[in-house]
Amino acid sequence: MNSKNYSPTATTAWSNLNAEADSATEVRITDLFAADSQRAEKFSVSSGELFLDFSKNLVTDKVWSELLKLAEQSPLLSHRAAMFAGEPINSTENRAVLHAALRAEPEDANSSQARERIALVKQQLQSVKAASDKIRAGQWLGSTGKAITDIVNIGIGGSDLGPKLACAALEEYAHADIKLHFISNVDGAEILTTLKKLNPETTLVALASKTFTTQETLLNAKTAIRWFKQTLGLDNAQNSSHFVGLTANPANAIAYGIPEDQILEFAEWVGGRYSLWSSIGLSIAISIGFEQFEQMLLGAQEMDSHFQQAPLESNMPVIMALLGIWYSNFLKLETTAVIPYCERLLLLPSYLQQLDMESNGKATSLNGEPVDYHTGAILWGQTGTNGQHAFFQLLHQGTRTVPIDFIAAAKDNLSNEEHHRVLLGNMLAQSSALMTGQAAPEGEQHRFYPGNKPSNTLMLKQLSPKNFGALVALYEHKVFVQGSIWNINSFDQWGVELGKKMANELLGDNVDSNGFDASTQALFAYIADNS
Ligand code: F6P
Repeated sequence: MNSKNYSPTATTAWSNLNAEADSATEVRITDLFAADSQRAEKFSVSSGELFLDFSKNLVTDKVWSELLKLAEQSPLLSHRAAMFAGEPINSTENRAVLHAALRAEPEDANSSQARERIALVKQQLQSVKAASDKIRAGQWLGSTGKAITDIVNIGIGGSDLGPKLACAALEEYAHADIKLHFISNVDGAEILTTLKKLNPETTLVALASKTFTTQETLLNAKTAIRWFKQTLGLDNAQNSSHFVGLTANPANAIAYGIPEDQILEFAEWVGGRYSLWSSIGLSIAISIGFEQFEQMLLGAQEMDSHFQQAPLESNMPVIMALLGIWYSNFLKLETTAVIPYCERLLLLPSYLQQLDMESNGKATSLNGEPVDYHTGAILWGQTGTNGQHAFFQLLHQGTRTVPIDFIAAAKDNLSNEEHHRVLLGNMLAQSSALMTGQAAPEGEQHRFYPGNKPSNTLMLKQLSPKNFGALVALYEHKVFVQGSIWNINSFDQWGVELGKKMANELLGDNVDSNGFDASTQALFAYIADNS
């Protein structure tokens, strides 16, 4: 199927799913279980050490077969082949989309171009290994000859969220004496309060920016450079052993003053929100060590193989993508929640917000036409059990239905048996209660639990670097599948450009706000009067 003459709404599967959606309100998930003793087994799938139970969904056999047909009738398979082959599927920027090449092995290559690409990646990863090994061994010295103890990663979006999530998730593997700090927001309170706690003699700034042009990142870097001057009397700290640059634009990093041999490069075909596998992940390698970093890559590579090889009906990213499309496009559910029962995955929802909403928040099809169906889901979430004492009330008894991804590790070396049993018991109880519901005692409507609320449960054997890599790659491919079916470009982000341009117009010292709307002018005046 060619994306040029494709629209998902013109497929027979789309029409059939619309017809199924009309009667979906009569379907009860508990009835589906009662009618099919094999349902739990039939609607579950494994990949490596990840196990997905998707049986608690509002999906009949008929709906499931039509969803699979929707995937077949879409350009998904040719689009997937084009991505892995390095074709420029990011059409508005004429770029290949090759984050999977960051975790590929030479034997995965099926062309000389692919072999060269993998060789380049391996070479770039060697720089990550060399730098992280040296820092971890206490051999990377600051300007006064002391070993580095604190890394400040300055970056935003993809140059922040992935490394920050990975370092938190893989805390079990963290270096005992090196602390990681992540600065992203241009809000000066973030960097100023962080720097106050650090010793400049033993601090290394990892300046992470694909483009090396991002306003927030460069302003935070300027503040860090000034801090080194004020505290150590160091001129141009960016040109010292206190700075490394992580970028796909080495020319800009050199012009900025970073020493050439302290620039860790990655290729421009790595999208920002897909870059944790590249040198942008230096802080991860520093924290957990390069060997474990490679395990993370291996987990992602195994998920890449699963995504490429597993039949659609047992393909984990495809399954999760189709369920999301069913809820969003046909049952008209507006949001979806990710709820890890693992405090170390607290940042996963924020990470997935960029991955999913920056990728699929699009209203123009690959044919250049406005779409007439919903695309990107509104994704939100928080960890359990904390969420149970905050928003779960709405999930159980509110007027809306929110499909949920529950995520947990079967075993946790950082916890103990008692805590872990209670944690997982809570997760299982919630997903079950949301599905089964409960009738209200006579005259006590407020105690009515409607139930029939759908969820996936994704179990990891444990939260190892390898399984973490597989988990992130799973969501990357889920987003890709949805983008392919919706026929949109999941790899550009023009939507963030207008705000950036207008912010630039309001940044200078003598700003003329007259060109702005009346509300913005009034707010501008309020700030001027009160600052
Ligand atoms: O928000 C837009 C964006 O371009 C993201 O896609 C990207 O991850 C982020 O800004 C940071 O960009 P850079 O790594 O070039 O500083």
